[in-house]
Amino acid sequence: MDALDSMAGGRFPTTHQDARRGTNSVWKQLANQWALVTGASSGLGEEFARQLASRGMHLILVARRLDLLEKLAAELHLKHGTRCLVIQSDLSIPDEPNRVLRDIAAQGIVIELLVNNAGFGIVGEIENADIDQILMMIRLNVAALTELTYRILPGMLERGRGAILNVSSLSAFQPVAFMGAYAASKAFVLHLSEALHCELKDRGITVTAVCAGVTRTHFFDTAGAPGWLQKHASHSVEFVVKRALKALVRRQQYTVPGWRNYLLTLLVRIASRARVVKESTRFFRPRSKKAPMPQGGSKAIE
Ligand SMILES: NC(=O)c1ccc[n+]([C@@H]2O[C@H](COP(=O)([O-])OP(=O)(O)OC[C@H]3O[C@@H](n4cnc5c(N)ncnc54)[C@H](OP(=O)(O)O)[C@@H]3O)[C@@H](O)[C@H]2O)c1
Repeated sequence: MDALDSMAGGRFPTTHQDARRGTNSVWKQLANQWALVTGASSGLGEEFARQLASRGMHLILVARRLDLLEKLAAELHLKHGTRCLVIQSDLSIPDEPNRVLRDIAAQGIVIELLVNNAGFGIVGEIENADIDQILMMIRLNVAALTELTYRILPGMLERGRGAILNVSSLSAFQPVAFMGAYAASKAFVLHLSEALHCELKDRGITVTAVCAGVTRTHFFDTAGAPGWLQKHASHSVEFVVKRALKALVRRQQYTVPGWRNYLLTLLVRIASRARVVKESTRFFRPRSKKAPMPQGGSKAIE
């Protein structure tokens, strides 16, 4: 019997039918346990906090904007009696993930669920790239997520139970022009999660990647593509988080919320890689500036 097995007070669901029956008991067992949610001050992270609190979990909320975390903690305490530990941290700073974990351990708190959600994207042309920002993104999206995961896992393995939900992206399935480093960082998250899922599933630990498509958050404003969200089909945070938590208790390797998004992940597998990346230029290619007229010609060059 494995960890979340024992949490479920019996067998942890192994098939979809089992899962439907077992889901409620999993949440019953996770109630009053602690979940660490990174990037809980807005968007998907805030919604993870809300849905986990409504299922009775206590929360460690981490992000840089302390005022937003404290406001959320107060609200969840009032609504659900949730106990919250709020930690202000810039997780892109090298020693911060470890410092956060030390602070949590000092409170005698054991993390049963880790939600690696904090992250951001960068859209733009090479000429305008801010290399410091790109490295900061990689430290957050890749290094901090990896460090939290690898530092938390030994304790989970010792206890024989635990769960990790890593927020990846639809962009993990393909290279994305003008957003290359971000998409590559999310491919890392998906691959790492899938490898760990396979390694650990028989040892009581479940690792699930959630590959969200376009979701209504501040993501695109932060990424340098304001107004982009309004022009594309998108999902609500409620929908994406509900799907992610469902996949987690079903012990899925990964989930792609939304059937259209899921279809896209299948299409990129059969199309040529050259075609796939070429198609991606349609999404984030910066508006073309008026090109100078070639001498003696009349055709504009894009
Ligand atoms: N929205 C989408 O369409 C979409 C699609 C696929 C995947 N995702 C992924 O979903 C995750 C959440 O993003 P979101 O869409 O919810 O965007 P968001 O509303 O901008 O939220 C990002 C969260 O990450 C936190 N964060 C950013 N930099 C941080 C840092 N250096 N240290 C600690 N926390 C930091 C932010 O908090 P502070 O600013 O307070 O630090 C905020 O809570 C990201 O991993 C993103 O890549 C989003």
